[in-house]
Amino acid sequence: MTPNPHLRRIDTHFHANIQLRSRSARAKIASALLARMRHLDILCSTEHVYKDPLAAFDFLDSIVRGAGLPIDILPAVENISREGVELIQIAQTRQDLAALLREKPGYALTIEDLAEKGTVPFISILPHPYSPSKTGAVTGLGKDRAKRLFDRVDFIEAGNGAFFDLPRYVQHRPAMAEKIKNTETFPRAELPQSVGSSYGSDAHFPSELGLHCLLPVRPGETNFEALSKRPQMEAASSDETINANKHLRLMANLGISGVEYLQKQVFRVVGAKTVRDPQ
Ligand SMILES: [Fe+2]
Repeated sequence: MTPNPHLRRIDTHFHANIQLRSRSARAKIASALLARMRHLDILCSTEHVYKDPLAAFDFLDSIVRGAGLPIDILPAVENISREGVELIQIAQTRQDLAALLREKPGYALTIEDLAEKGTVPFISILPHPYSPSKTGAVTGLGKDRAKRLFDRVDFIEAGNGAFFDLPRYVQHRPAMAEKIKNTETFPRAELPQSVGSSYGSDAHFPSELGLHCLLPVRPGETNFEALSKRPQMEAASSDETINANKHLRLMANLGISGVEYLQKQVFRVVGAKTVRDPQ
């Protein structure tokens, strides 16, 4: 636990990345995760909408429960708008996540409609707004529309672990370096006062876990209720992040982006029909 028992260590952006993996590959991921997630009290399972977020949540929840770890897994999705911009949505329960995936299917809605609250409650986080790819709001929508969106979400991702320490590797490309710098650390002055800030690892592999933040949770309050207050959370980091080999991480990220691009295209063709287990 953290020294202050009311501050819970939360990673708000994590991909189990188990789709298309064999049973033995999943078992390896499970044991690596169990060894590397102990710096957390809460892990948000934010699998991409095109990579079966319900199965990702079930996987994480079952391994944590099976090992008896005191870590809460929150059911969530990294959804995607019609424009291709991503939005994390955290649900209160697994059942709500399933309902949310029916109410807000991937690629079906504008980013504003995706962020709008409907019948299923959720907490929204705008991830990596300055990401060099068009999944980030600023790059995907342009600065003006993105800035209007900043007021319509619960949180803006103030730091993304996948970009941690990367700016110095792209100094020879100033425009790219600027976007990566603003993804690693969102410009504080652009954060609206009433909007919370969060930090997530955006890990796709257990070895990338590390960056997280501290959520104030009052006695008797649920994690979801605490998040609903939109706190501007402090960043925290485990040693693994600092020691990780950034060259390897950069290569791994490029590899995973290529695979996810293909998975996205398949999802767009078959649409939300791929959402399994819609209970
Ligand atoms: Fe992500």
